[in-house]
Amino acid sequence: RRVASAYTIDDLRRIAKRRTPSGPFHYVDGGAEEEVSMQRAREAFRDLEFRPRILRDVHAVDTTTTVLDEASALPFGFGPTGGTRMMHSAGERAVLRAAARAGIPYALSSVGTTSIADFAAEAPAARRWFQTYLLKDRETSLRMIAQAKERGYEALVVTVDVPVSGNRLRDLKYGMSYPPQLTVKTFLDASYRVEWWSNLLTTEPYTFTYEEPGVSRSELQVSGFNDNTTTFDDLAWIRDAWDGPLVIKGIQTLEDARRAADAGAAGIVLSNHGGRQLDRTAPPLLLLPAAVREVGADTEIILDSGVRTGADVVAAIALGARFVLVGRAYLYGLMAGGEAGVDRAVQILRSEVERTMQLLGVASVAELTPDQVRLLSRGAL
Ligand code: FNR
Repeated sequence: RRVASAYTIDDLRRIAKRRTPSGPFHYVDGGAEEEVSMQRAREAFRDLEFRPRILRDVHAVDTTTTVLDEASALPFGFGPTGGTRMMHSAGERAVLRAAARAGIPYALSSVGTTSIADFAAEAPAARRWFQTYLLKDRETSLRMIAQAKERGYEALVVTVDVPVSGNRLRDLKYGMSYPPQLTVKTFLDASYRVEWWSNLLTTEPYTFTYEEPGVSRSELQVSGFNDNTTTFDDLAWIRDAWDGPLVIKGIQTLEDARRAADAGAAGIVLSNHGGRQLDRTAPPLLLLPAAVREVGADTEIILDSGVRTGADVVAAIALGARFVLVGRAYLYGLMAGGEAGVDRAVQILRSEVERTMQLLGVASVAELTPDQVRLLSRGAL
C-alpha cells in the first residue's frame, strides 16, 4: 500500500529513509570517503543523450535477454549486497522471491544474512548466483564454493575490489554495527521506526551466509576474513573448484578487464562497488565503450554502480553491456516495504525500461546499439 505511491526508485528511497533506522539506511545509501565515486557513477548516467528514432513499430516491446547464456526476462538483475536482513528482516529470501517472480538473476552475498542452503531452498528454480570474496582460510572458501555447486547455484561471482573495506564515513557517524545494537543513540533513532525493530525482534537471529559450525563471527568481518594477499594466480584454484561460469566483479580498468578475460572469466562486472570502495574512480559507464572494444568478444560485460532508472539500464545495454546489476535500487524497495517494496522496484524499473525502449524506437534488447546513446561532458575513456 505504502509503496504503491512510489513512482521512482528515488520515491522508494524517501520512504525507506523514513522507515529504517539511520544505521542500516545510511549503510545502504552511503559510499566511501567523500562519495565522489558514488556521485560520479550516478552523474554519468544523467550526462548522456539518447538519439531516438521515429516511426518504428514499437507496439510490442520485448525486454528479454540472456546473460551467461541463460534467459532473463529483463536486462538487469540483483547484485549481491551484504547484511540484507538488517535493511528489513524479510531479507534475502524476500528479495529472491521477487527476483524469481520477475524472472531475473540474483546473487547471494557471501556476507549475506541467509545461508547458502536456505536461500537455495526458497526458490530452487530461480537463477541464483553466489558471490564470494577470497577468504583467508582457503578451506572455508572451498567449502562454500562446493555448497553453492551442490545447491544448484548457476554462477560464481568473485568480488575483487575489497582488499580492505572502503572508509564508509556514514557508518561511523550513524553508529552502524552488525548486528544492530540498541544504544541510547540507536534507541532514540528507533523510537519512531517501531515496525522495523519489532520485525527484527520477532524473527530468527541473524546469521552470516558464511556462518557455520567452526567459523567464528569475528573471522567473518570483511576486513578480517578477506585475503588481500591474493592475486590473479588464485583464480586458478577457484577455476579448479568451480566448473560453472565464473564472473569477476569489481573491474575498473581496461588492463584488468583484459587479464580477467584471459583468465577465463565468463563475465566481468565493471563496477566501482557503488562508490563504496576507492573514492574518485571512473564511472563504470564511461569505461564501458572501451571495455567492449577491449574484451567484448571474449567475455560478457556486466555493469553496475549508479543505476537508478530503467533508462540507465537501457543506456548501458545500448553502449554494449550484456547485462546490468542494481544494488541500492532493490534495497530501497526492501527497506520501504519488504517484499512488496522489492516488487515495486522491479515494476518501476521494468516500466521505465519498456517505455525508454519504445520512445527510442526499439522493440527488442537486441536492437539496442551504441549509436542510440551519446556520452556527454567527459566522453568515453
Ligand atoms: C554492496 N555491494 C556488494 N558487492 C559484493 O560483491 N558483495 C557484497 O557483499 C556487497 N555488499 C553490498 C552492500 C550494500 C548495502 C550495497 C549498497 C552494495 C556492491 C553491489 O553488489 C553493487 O556493486 C553496487 O551496489 C552497485 O551500485 P548501486 O546499484 O548500489 O548504485
